[in-house]
Amino acid sequence: MKTVVVSSPGKLLLFGDHAVVYGYPCIVTAVDQRMMVTITESEKDGVMYDVLGSDTRFLDAALHIAQSLWGNISHIAVQTKSQFSEKIGLGSSAAVTVSFLFVLSKYLSKPLKPIGLFNAAYKAVLDVQGVGSGVDVAASVYGGTIRYVMGGKEIMPIDGSVLPLVVGYTGIKADTATIVNDVKKKYEDNPEKVKRIFEAMGGLVDQVMPRLVDKDWERVGKFMDFNQEYLRDLGVSSEKLESLILAAKHAGALGAKLSGAGGGDCMIALVTNDTRKFVESAIEKAGGQIMHVKPNAKGVRVEV
Ligand code: PMV
Repeated sequence: MKTVVVSSPGKLLLFGDHAVVYGYPCIVTAVDQRMMVTITESEKDGVMYDVLGSDTRFLDAALHIAQSLWGNISHIAVQTKSQFSEKIGLGSSAAVTVSFLFVLSKYLSKPLKPIGLFNAAYKAVLDVQGVGSGVDVAASVYGGTIRYVMGGKEIMPIDGSVLPLVVGYTGIKADTATIVNDVKKKYEDNPEKVKRIFEAMGGLVDQVMPRLVDKDWERVGKFMDFNQEYLRDLGVSSEKLESLILAAKHAGALGAKLSGAGGGDCMIALVTNDTRKFVESAIEKAGGQIMHVKPNAKGVRVEV
């Protein structure tokens, strides 16, 4: 029986969270926790899912787009397997969408360039979520560490930026779409203030780029702290995020911030070899859970 397996990475947002939704650049890194999707030929009519949980919205949306591109798809069984929980905000929705579209293209022997895959997967994610910059889709497709502008207007790899990160999970699942909509409301209520925050965050991205390339982690850490201040001003941080960030800083982290929408999910701290274990244990003591993930992971790929 014909079988194809594909995997794609999750992501962490390093700079420009939320501002990216308003057209400012951001920096994202793919992480080595991957989402696997397998297609196996089946004797049964239609498309059968064997997936964790009952949420098949992203698969359904991706299938719909695939059928509009390649015609009716039938006689397949689809299995998903994740190395990370959908609860922690590493971008599982985007990764499952990207992996499914890519495995379908391989199974059906349809050519699909990275930009075609990005566009199709981004459309599927928007069909389900209604909002989003597509940054998580770009990370899953391209991997590495990239400077990204909304809708894929810019997808630029940044060389040499395997950041020495510690990732702490708050234990609280955040709903990205709700928080993005809250920020939209704030923007509508107070456009000058929110625009100023986003402009400053966009400026940070430009300034930090050469520091990332030079691996000047001390400066990169400072920029992370600035980014966190802006996110705090925006009102998307939380008590738990703040306590993990503070604990990391007290334990010697060069910088620390929330990653993504905020409200919960994960925070990241930039460390050195000497401070890593102290920062990890401080985050744990503050009630966080350490996620062992490595940045700069490879983008979507065929496994079998
Ligand atoms: O919460 P996450 O990790 O899915 O990240 C969302 C990132 C935002 O900038 C807040 C929204 C977006 O679509 O870019």
